Amino acid sequence: MATLLHVDGLQTYFYTHRGTVRAVDGVSISVEEGESVALVGESGCGKSMTALSVMRLVPPPGKTVGGRVLFKGHDLLELTPDEMTEVRGHASPRSFRIR
Ligand SMILES: Nc1ncnc2c1ncn2[C@@H]1O[C@H](COP(=O)(O)OP(=O)(O)OP(=O)(O)O)[C@@H](O)[C@H]1O
Ligand SMILES: [Mg+2]
Repeated sequence: MATLLHVDGLQTYFYTHRGTVRAVDGVSISVEEGESVALVGESGCGKSMTALSVMRLVPPPGKTVGGRVLFKGHDLLELTPDEMTEVRGHASPRSFRIR
């Protein structure tokens, strides 16, 4: 099976007036074609921010500051906003149900 999504060392931080919140700090995940992966963990551990980081939908003042998100071999963190919109449009809505 081919690797569809490879997340490597992902880091998303929130820069607030009370300091830096390391919401996602070094997350790595591989998802093969046809495979389902669930993120499980206690409230606040970073599940939603991991998923939103992959789709580059982290709300400010959050910012993805490190790592790679390889989708079909392309690093999504390097795409232009227009290219990223294109990628989101082709993803199944069911794939990104984030709570
Ligand atoms: N706007 C924000 N400003 C500062 N910190 C934030 C912000 N949004 C999220 N965080 C922090 O990011 C961390 C991860 O949050 P996230 O929402 O990803 O958790 P979660 O695992 O999805 O939790 P839950 O199970 O409650 O949905 C938390 O520690 C949270 O406090
Ligand atoms: Mg959540």
